[in-house]
Amino acid sequence: DFFHADIQPLTGKHIVVTAGPTHEPIDPVRYIANRSSGTQGFAIAGALASLGAKVTLVAGPVALETPVGVNRIDVETALEMQGAVEAALPADVAVCVAAVADWRADCDHGQKLKKSKGGLPDLKLTENPDILAGLSKHIEKRPTLVVGFAAETENVIDYAAAKRERKGCDIIVANDVSHATGIMGGHENEVHIISDKGVESWPKLSKTEVAVKLALKIAEYLGK
Ligand code: CTP
Ligand code: CA
Repeated sequence: DFFHADIQPLTGKHIVVTAGPTHEPIDPVRYIANRSSGTQGFAIAGALASLGAKVTLVAGPVALETPVGVNRIDVETALEMQGAVEAALPADVAVCVAAVADWRADCDHGQKLKKSKGGLPDLKLTENPDILAGLSKHIEKRPTLVVGFAAETENVIDYAAAKRERKGCDIIVANDVSHATGIMGGHENEVHIISDKGVESWPKLSKTEVAVKLALKIAEYLGK
């Protein structure tokens, strides 16, 4: 039977997807965040599951339904996301779509900061671990295929290609997230797929269409 699940191209593959923003607490009521809605990552998780993959979706705080057939793990911070990704290994593929906060507040988050204490709060930041680079350079459990995204506002292809080299992933999906493009938080995306084969630019598509095309590309990559 052609439609039998067993012949779907990603059957038997475990794929970890990160999606959404992370929230980094400053105190019990405040946090550092970004404009990611999680839409693209959730669509990718759903498209991979439709092709038969067992998908673990590690999601930051978003207001989205879990795609059909996807195992979702909710996290809040970058450190929690890293822990959940590590716990989900081994995986055949990792797709890091999350807009992980680059920095977290390096302070005791125990009590609300008060204006009445006088002066401005001294917010010291510290860098979060790079989950994508960690997966790409994983010694025991590197996934066969590691896919990253690159959110750029200028020199999109050059910066993204440099990110691919630096982080050691196989494919980088580059997109222009300048405010004018409306991509972050919107429903469309215009991406460039950068791999060892060069650059492939896709037209502006819905995030669902980008997800389906990327899932097929992943299946093709594993099929070789
Ligand atoms: N990423 C990650 N962990 C981080 C930061 C980024 O896994 N702490 C991943 C993202 O999920 C994405 C890729 O790395 O797949 C690139 O993210 P991006 O923010 O574009 O790159 P950065 O390396 O953080 O560089 P910058 O924000 O300074 O451009
Ligand atoms: Ca970043």
